[in-house]
Amino acid sequence: MSKISKVGVIGAGNMGSGIVQKIAQEGIHVVMMDIKDEFVERGFNNIKSLLQKGVERGVFKPERVQEIVARIKGTTDIQDVADAGLVVEAVFEDKQVKHDLFKQLDATCDAKTILATNTSSFYVREFAEKTGRPDRIIGLHYFYHPAMNRLLEVIPHETTSKDTLGKALLFAKLHGKDAIVVKDAPGFAVNRFFVPFLNEATRMLEENVANIPTIEAAAKSVFRIGMGPFELMNVTGIPIAIHSSTTLGNELGPFYATSECLKAQGEAGKPWSLSGEVDESKVAEVGDRFLGVCLGVAAALADESVASIEDTDRGAKIGLRWSLGPFEIMNRIGIDKTYKVVQAIVNRYPDFTMPRILQERKDMAKPFTFQFVDLEIKDRIAFITLNRPEAMNALNETVVSQLDARFTEAEENPETKAIVFQGAGKAFVAGADIRYFVQNIKNNRISDTVEFTRKGHELFLRIETCAKPTIALLDGLSLGGGSELALACKKILATPDGSMGFPETGIGIYPGLGGMLRFARHVGPELAKYYVFTGAFIKAQDALELGIVNRLVDRADVPAALKDMAAEETTGKYAKREIPAKFQALAKACTGGNLEKLLSGKAPTGIPEDLANKIKRIISKKAPIALKLANELIDQQTKMSIEEGIEAELARLQEIFSTADAFEGLSSVGKKAPAFKGA
Ligand SMILES: NC(=O)c1ccc[n+]([C@@H]2O[C@H](COP(=O)([O-])OP(=O)(O)OC[C@H]3O[C@@H](n4cnc5c(N)ncnc54)[C@H](O)[C@@H]3O)[C@@H](O)[C@H]2O)c1
Repeated sequence: MSKISKVGVIGAGNMGSGIVQKIAQEGIHVVMMDIKDEFVERGFNNIKSLLQKGVERGVFKPERVQEIVARIKGTTDIQDVADAGLVVEAVFEDKQVKHDLFKQLDATCDAKTILATNTSSFYVREFAEKTGRPDRIIGLHYFYHPAMNRLLEVIPHETTSKDTLGKALLFAKLHGKDAIVVKDAPGFAVNRFFVPFLNEATRMLEENVANIPTIEAAAKSVFRIGMGPFELMNVTGIPIAIHSSTTLGNELGPFYATSECLKAQGEAGKPWSLSGEVDESKVAEVGDRFLGVCLGVAAALADESVASIEDTDRGAKIGLRWSLGPFEIMNRIGIDKTYKVVQAIVNRYPDFTMPRILQERKDMAKPFTFQFVDLEIKDRIAFITLNRPEAMNALNETVVSQLDARFTEAEENPETKAIVFQGAGKAFVAGADIRYFVQNIKNNRISDTVEFTRKGHELFLRIETCAKPTIALLDGLSLGGGSELALACKKILATPDGSMGFPETGIGIYPGLGGMLRFARHVGPELAKYYVFTGAFIKAQDALELGIVNRLVDRADVPAALKDMAAEETTGKYAKREIPAKFQALAKACTGGNLEKLLSGKAPTGIPEDLANKIKRIISKKAPIALKLANELIDQQTKMSIEEGIEAELARLQEIFSTADAFEGLSSVGKKAPAFKGA
C-alpha cells in the first residue's frame, strides 16, 4: 500500500458512507460496497446531499463535488475490493455479521491488503482470529460524522505488525484525520469515558438528583460543550447509548452497566424531553458527579495504558469537542478537587477503585505535565513530531522547551544521522500561541515575550548550524513561527499540501523568529518584503521554484525522499539563485520608489495595474507600524550576519508589542477583522 491508491469500505450506512466521503474528498479512490443496490444508492445520496450543503455554504465548488463523487465506485460485489490496499468494514455492529465478513474478506482480498474494523464495542483481536492475516488487521474507529469529525482511534491488537500500524497512521494522515493510538480494550479510549458520562446523567435523573435541564446545564458548564448528554443521546440515538453501556458493563463491571432509566427510555422508543427549568442550586453537585466519573475513568485508562494522557485529552477535544481534555481539566480544578470528586465515585460504586496515577499525583501534590513534542528514531533518522494537532501544533513556552530538549537528544545521539521535524495532523506548525502574547501585553510582561522569542531564536540557530542534516517535512500548512522553524532547517521536503505564510503584519506585529532574515537570504529583500507585507501564501510548488523547498513529493514518497535527503550534503542553503520570471513583478512592487508608495497607501507602478491595485488593497489592511518596522528590519538585515540579524529583530520586539495595533491585531484573531490606527 505504498501509494494507497485504492481503499474499500464495506457498508454504506451512516458511518460507511461518511468514511467514503472523507476518503474521496482527500483525493483517494474508494470503493463503497453494500449488500443491495438500494443501500449503495442511499450511501451515494447521503454523500451527495452533504456535499451539496457544502456547496451552499461555500466550502466546495460544484466542480470539486463532481470530482469527489467520481472517485467513488459503488458496488454490491465484494470482488471489487480484492485489490485494495486497505479495506475498512463499517457494517452492522453484530459480531456474527462481522465475523463472516472478515472470513470473506480474508478469502477475497490480496495477501497484502490490510483489513480494518470500525467496530465500537468488540475487540479487534476477535476479528483478527477469523483470518489468516492477524498481522494485517487493525481497528480504525471513526467518530460521527466521519466526514467532519477529525478524530480517528487507531487500534492495533496484540499481533498487528508495526508495518500495518505505520501504514494505518499514514492513511489517517492522507485522509485528513488526527490519529490517536489506542489499546484494544473495551470502548477503546473516548467511549470508555464518554459512555459513562451519558449513563451517569441518566442515573442522576433516576435518583432524582436533578431534572434533565439542570443536568444538561451542569454538563455544558463543566465541559464547556454545546450539547448536554440527553440532547446528544437524542441526536445520536438512545439505542447506541444502551448498546455501548451494555457492552462496557459486561466487560468491565456494574459501574459501567446501563442504568434502568436508560433501558426504560430505549424500550419506550422516545427521545428525552429537554424542557423544564434549571435548578441552579443543584448545578454544582451534578457537575462534580460528572467530573468524578469522567476524570476517574480517564485516569483508569491511563493506568491501564489504554492511551497516553495526551491522546486521551486529544480524543476529548477533537472527538467530543470539549474545550479541555480530562487531564487538562484535572490541572485546571487542581489535584485535590479531582481526588475529592473521584473519591465520591469510588465510594458510590464498589467496583470502581481509585486510579493509581491520581493517588500518585495527590501524594506529590503536582499537576500533570504533558508531552507535546515526541522523538522517534527510525533507520537512524530522528523524527521530532510537534504533536498538538488540536492547536495546529502552535508554539508556546512548553512546546519550544520540549522541542529544544528533543532536538538536543537527537543531536547528541550518535546513532542518528539526520533530524526531521514534522507536525502531527493537518498542519506543520501554525505559528505561535497568540493567547500567550495577548496575556503578556495585558499583564505588562512583554519582556516574557521577548525572552520566549530569544529562546526560540537560539534553538532555531542551533537547528540551522547543526552538524547533522536538519530537515523540515512541510506536509501541511505552516504560518509565522511554523514557517520560521521550517526556514531554520537546513533543508525542506514538502508535499503538495505544504505551504508557508507570514500573516504577522495583519495582526499588528512582524515575523519575529528569523522569517524575514532567512526568507530574504533565499530570495532577496524585495520578494521577502512582498510576502511579509501581504501575508500571501507560498505554496509548496512556488517555494520549490524559489529554491526554498529542496524537494516536493507526494506523501507516499516521503519516506524514500527523506532517506535520500538524510544522506545528501547540506551546503549551499542560501546559494545565489535566479528568481523565476513569475515572481519578478511581485518583487518589483516592493522595490525602490514603489516601497514608499506602498507604505503611504498608494499603488506601486511599473507592474500590471490589476496586480498593483490588488497589492495596494491588501497592504492597506495591515498594521502601518508593523509594515514600517518590517521594512526597516529587512533592509538592515541584508547587511548583517544571521546572528546580528537575530539581535536586530529582538531589539524591536518591545516596541512593536507595545503598540495599540499589536494588541488590537492579536486580540482580534479568530474573532473579527482588526481596526488598525497606526499607533
Ligand atoms: N454510528 C456511530 O456513531 C458509530 C461511530 C463509530 C463506529 N460505529 C460503528 O460503525 C459500524 C456501522 O455503523 P452505522 O451506524 O454506519 O450502521 P448502519 O446500520 O447505518 O450501516 C450498516 C450498513 O452495513 C451494511 N451491511 C451489513 N452487512 C453487510 C455485509 N455483509 N456486507 C456489506 N454491507 C453490509 C448494511 O446494509 C448497512 O447499510 C458499526 O460497527 C458501528 O458500531 C458507529
